[in-house]
Amino acid sequence: LKKKKTPKNSNMTFELQYTDPRSNARAGLITTDHGQIETPIFMPVGTLGTVKGVHLHELKDDIKAQIILGNTYHLYLRPGLDIIEGAGGLHKFNGFDRPMLTDSGGFQVFSLSGIRKMREEGVEFRSHIDGSKHLFTPERVMDIERTIGADIMMAFDECTPGTADYEYARKSMEMTHRWLDRCLTRFNETEPKYGYNQSLFPIVQGCVYPDLRKRSAEYIASKNADGNAIGGLAVGEPTEKMYEMIEVVNEILPTDRPRYLMGVGTPINILEGIERGVDMFDCVMPTRNGRNGMLFTKDGIMNMRNKKWENDYSPIEADGASYVDTMYSRAYLRHLFHAQELLAMQIASIHNLAFYLWLVGEARKHIIAGDFSTWKPAMVKRLSTRL
Ligand code: GUN
Repeated sequence: LKKKKTPKNSNMTFELQYTDPRSNARAGLITTDHGQIETPIFMPVGTLGTVKGVHLHELKDDIKAQIILGNTYHLYLRPGLDIIEGAGGLHKFNGFDRPMLTDSGGFQVFSLSGIRKMREEGVEFRSHIDGSKHLFTPERVMDIERTIGADIMMAFDECTPGTADYEYARKSMEMTHRWLDRCLTRFNETEPKYGYNQSLFPIVQGCVYPDLRKRSAEYIASKNADGNAIGGLAVGEPTEKMYEMIEVVNEILPTDRPRYLMGVGTPINILEGIERGVDMFDCVMPTRNGRNGMLFTKDGIMNMRNKKWENDYSPIEADGASYVDTMYSRAYLRHLFHAQELLAMQIASIHNLAFYLWLVGEARKHIIAGDFSTWKPAMVKRLSTRL
């Protein structure tokens, strides 16, 4: 019996609603069993099943997150699969009843774990928590992602560093493709555990080499998955290379499926990605940089630790996207950061995420209104200043 190499159909749909006539920007609607996602969209990162420092009501009602991300690597190590399965899956465990996506560990295993050995079978690594030894294979990762129960599961890949030479990048990409076939086989042999559907998104690799990116995009496109991801970007390559690779890949990935650019990026990176036909983004930047005192606003970046804000009693951002923007002043937020108060990190995380969601929402509105191509360069210019 020939093994099926196309992912089993879930009932996820993607409706392409508008395409910008002057660029590749699109507005669409993803429908999952946990609800709909309007694209382009930014997905807040909830590595351990929590978006750090942000309560559910803030995440849902203020930030208006439509989908969040969790990490297979982290959740597998802590709290572990038994606890998540005992709760009835991650949605039940963390209380977020909207769509979720899990990254496969293809990035975290390389960036976080200490000693690791990669071979055809998979990756052997040591936990960053207690040093214990584990083996991630494509099959094992599919089983883990089934148990976590996110609406969108990512294939197990190697995130090739942006500085890799051609031969390394080629071999790594070819292994990612073989791993994808094993992911698909296992995905097709198994069922969702909690009564709703799950989709599997494959990941394009190929580093900064256009011919490899092309080959990878063709391979990934041939799998006819519910959606497709672009990985191995914003990992040490020049920004212009990243934009060039997105263009090469998006010329090949199907237009009628969502495209997800993994781990990207700054507000400007996101607008450049949208212009090139990307629909989904995730990045730790709004939360991680926020915890360090960096605020993203329409008029550029503010470092809240700066003396400049010491007696600036004006709102954080007068026309900001979140209630925190007018509830608290710049001077007060600066004080909280200097006093190392927990509230500082919470305010900054909420502000930044609300801003990111506002930004992709505005992009969507302008795509639908038909003036994205004039709005986007003006917004990029505005974002490029430093307050
Ligand atoms: N997050 C950012 N980049 C990547 C990637 O290339 N692969 C995976 N799995 N996750 C990522």
